[in-house]
Amino acid sequence: MGSTTSPELDQFAADVLEGLSSTPKTLSSRYFYDDEGSRLFMEIMKLPEYYPTRAELKIFTEQKKDICRAFMDEVDAIDLIELGAGDGTKTAVLIEHLLSIGADFTYHPIDISKEANDTLGAKFTEKFPDLRIDPHTGDYFKVLDSLKNGNGRRKVIMFLGSNIGNFLRDNAVAFFRSLREVMTENDRLFIGFDMQKDPRTIVAAYDDKQGITAEFNLNLLRRINRELGGDFDLGKFSHYAQYRPLECAARSFLISREKQTVTIKALNRSFDFEQWEAIFMEISQKYTHSMIDELAGDGGFEIAREFYNEEDFYIDSFWKPV
Ligand code: AVI
Repeated sequence: MGSTTSPELDQFAADVLEGLSSTPKTLSSRYFYDDEGSRLFMEIMKLPEYYPTRAELKIFTEQKKDICRAFMDEVDAIDLIELGAGDGTKTAVLIEHLLSIGADFTYHPIDISKEANDTLGAKFTEKFPDLRIDPHTGDYFKVLDSLKNGNGRRKVIMFLGSNIGNFLRDNAVAFFRSLREVMTENDRLFIGFDMQKDPRTIVAAYDDKQGITAEFNLNLLRRINRELGGDFDLGKFSHYAQYRPLECAARSFLISREKQTVTIKALNRSFDFEQWEAIFMEISQKYTHSMIDELAGDGGFEIAREFYNEEDFYIDSFWKPV
C-alpha cells in the first residue's frame, strides 16, 4: 500500500483495501460523511420518503415533558451528552424544554467533525443564550473517557436517529459495552431505534425518487477518487437498496453496470469488477421489541422506559446500567 499523509487517511486507505479485497466487496458507510456526504445526509433527512428524522422529532415534540422528567429523575443536575449531534434540530426541542423548566444541565455535543461542532455551537449559542454548551471534537470514546467521573453529575448519553442501525449486531453490542465502561450506575443512555414496518416504506426511504440516497452512496466513490487517487467512473455504478423482512435489515449496494477494472493509486492496486457485481455499502438495521431488549441486556443495560411513536414505528429507548 502507498503511504498517505495522516493517520485518518491511512486508516481510510487500509479499510478501502480490505473492503475491496473481500468477497463480497464492501465499503464502510462510516466514510460516507465527508463535507459533501454530510450535506447530502442533511438533504436526505428532508426527503418525503425518509421518515426516521420526522418520526423521532414527533416523539420529542409530543413527549418532551416525560423525556426530560426521565433524564432528571432523582437527580438535581445532568450532563447531556450527544454522540454525533448533526444539525441539532431534534435535540433543540429537548434543550428548549429543559431550559423552560429551569433544569441544571450542560449540553456536550460530541462530533468527529470540528466544522459540525462549530456550526452547532454557534447556532445553539444564538438560539439559547442561557444554555451552557461545551462541544467536544474527537472520537466518542476518548471524549467520554475524559468526562468519566468528572463531577459526579448524571451523564445522559444520547445516540439518536437510529444511528445504531448502521452497526452490525456484534459491533453494536461492543459499542454499548464500551459505553457501559465509562458510565456509572447513575448514568443513562437514550437511544433512537427505527422499528420494523411495511417493507415498502423502508425500501422507499433508502431509494428515494430524487436519487439523493443514490448520490449519497456514490459520493463515497468520489471520495476515494479524490483522497486516494482512485479512478472510479461513477456513471458505471448504480445504487440498489433492499429490505429483508426476516432479518429486519435494509441494505444498500453499488452495482457495477459492466465488467471493469478500477485502480487506486494510494493502494498501488487495481480491482476487477464483474458485470453486475455488488459492493455492499450500508446496513440500516430495523428492530423488534425483543431485539432491543436483547441488545440492552447484551450491552450491560436494562430498559427503564420507552417513548414510542406508534404511527411511524419508532422508539426512543431509555436505558440504565445493570
Ligand atoms: C445515519 N443513518 C442512521 C442513516 C440510516 O437511515 O441508516 C443513514 C442513511 N443512509 C441512507 N439514508 C440515510
